[in-house]
Amino acid sequence: MRELRQEDSKVEVRGFEARHYDTLMNLITLGWYPGFIRQAIFDIGIQPGNKILDFGAGTGRNALLMYKYTGDKGKITALEIGPEMQQQLREKIAPYAGTMELMDLRIDEPLPFREEYDIVFTSFVLHGFIQEKRDIIIQNAYNTLKHGGRFAILDYANFNMDKAAWYMRYAIRKFECPMAEDFISRDTRKMLRAFGFSNFEEYFYFKNYLRLLLAEK
Ligand SMILES: C[S@@+](CC[C@H](N)C(=O)[O-])C[C@H]1O[C@@H](n2cnc3c(N)ncnc32)[C@H](O)[C@@H]1O
Repeated sequence: MRELRQEDSKVEVRGFEARHYDTLMNLITLGWYPGFIRQAIFDIGIQPGNKILDFGAGTGRNALLMYKYTGDKGKITALEIGPEMQQQLREKIAPYAGTMELMDLRIDEPLPFREEYDIVFTSFVLHGFIQEKRDIIIQNAYNTLKHGGRFAILDYANFNMDKAAWYMRYAIRKFECPMAEDFISRDTRKMLRAFGFSNFEEYFYFKNYLRLLLAEK
């Protein structure tokens, strides 16, 4: 496999794709996405009053879904760097000032949070980084979580790409970041264990190609 370079990643979504991100996700999945994301967020098991940090929060669609569970006594902090994504996020969370906030912070650089949050959530973000940066993101999640807090990673599962259905191979190789295939081929649980996470729980979607992985600090 050729050397992976972060500059080749598509994870920093910009321009037209960013401005229409939610609509595009609904369209390219032929309307499957809204039900899927609602189910995955339900599966996290968020409790009223939970404090959640969303790494690479996108348009804020997921933050709003999580708010249904955290309620007014909880807190959701969205970390997002894309200007188009930030603009949509700001509009979405405006009615919830005090319980939801946006911070313009990079998740692939050391973050200032220490044992403050119950859940760190990240959805379709981790696969877009080279391993060195994934390690910084995982360390950030670990530092941020309270003892017993959970890191919730919604992303591709680990599977053998050569044995995957043709449409999955095609979609990933044609449209995804080059590092997505690297992410899929690694053992994500092992990656997390190295930082001290344990007590894993998994939920699978879309023929087991997608997974919500919950890991406890
Ligand atoms: C594929 S999108 C997923 C968005 C959202 N999590 C979702 O599931 O709808 C990846 C997001 O991560 C953000 N992002 C990429 N690199 C980032 C970084 N280093 N720090 C913070 N956000 C980042 C992008 O701007 C984009 O909104």
